[in-house]
Amino acid sequence: MATKFGFLSKLNFLQDWVSIFISKVNPAIIHNVEKYYIIKKVHYLSAIEDIEGDYLEFGVYTGSSFCHSLRCSKHTEKLNPHVAKTKFYGFDSFSGFGNIEEDDKHPFYTDSNFETSFINVNNRVKRVSNGYIFKLVKGFFSETLKQGALSLGIKQSRIIFIDSDTYSSANDALNFCIPTIVAGTFIIIDDFFSYKGSLEKGVARAFNEFLINANIEVREVFTYGMGGKVFVVSKRNDK
Ligand SMILES: C[S@@+](CC[C@H](N)C(=O)[O-])C[C@H]1O[C@@H](n2cnc3c(N)ncnc32)[C@H](O)[C@@H]1O
Repeated sequence: MATKFGFLSKLNFLQDWVSIFISKVNPAIIHNVEKYYIIKKVHYLSAIEDIEGDYLEFGVYTGSSFCHSLRCSKHTEKLNPHVAKTKFYGFDSFSGFGNIEEDDKHPFYTDSNFETSFINVNNRVKRVSNGYIFKLVKGFFSETLKQGALSLGIKQSRIIFIDSDTYSSANDALNFCIPTIVAGTFIIIDDFFSYKGSLEKGVARAFNEFLINANIEVREVFTYGMGGKVFVVSKRNDK
């Protein structure tokens, strides 16, 4: 390698251009672009495995990833027409985190960063829904999820996206999902390494507890952006 690229590696201006460009890119852009890629890949993989069920997103904010999922799903209908039956559910307070428990406190996860308008998001999603049935559920998970998935008509999940940042919200979301999980359900988890990488905090803690409570086995599929992970359920031991 060193001899083959010796000449190129001495062109410092080339290295500097690349370095200057990359150092200027906003990390949120890198994260979101990679997230969009994995959402596309997950819709593709789920479609070719012919997994039935719904798309569940916990932490919708302005609806960007939710709308992206709808677009990606539409494009997989050519591969698998069954995909058109997917219903899209999004859950968010649309007012941030609410009362954050001591263990969930984090310098970046604050309400001022995540205030948004339910009406605007709902209209945005409606414009791209393109024939898909969707429902945005407004409120804190501790309230909106306590009736269970069946009460909303959700029997089975194809793709779950946990993007609500804290342990308690991810815990509520993942517990809600347990009855809907089947072999082949994809689970996208954002912020997997937050809280200084702790396994006793954040979504990583919620996910590890969920694996035990749901009695399932998963395989890791991708890592993306600033610490997101994608898993696929390889086995549900109680079914
Ligand atoms: C990172 S944003 C979601 C971003 C979105 N998935 C996207 O990529 O476009 C996190 C969202 O989680 C929501 N959230 C966090 N904790 C919540 C809770 N306990 N109940 C309801 N919503 C919550 C916040 O309101 C915020 O909109």
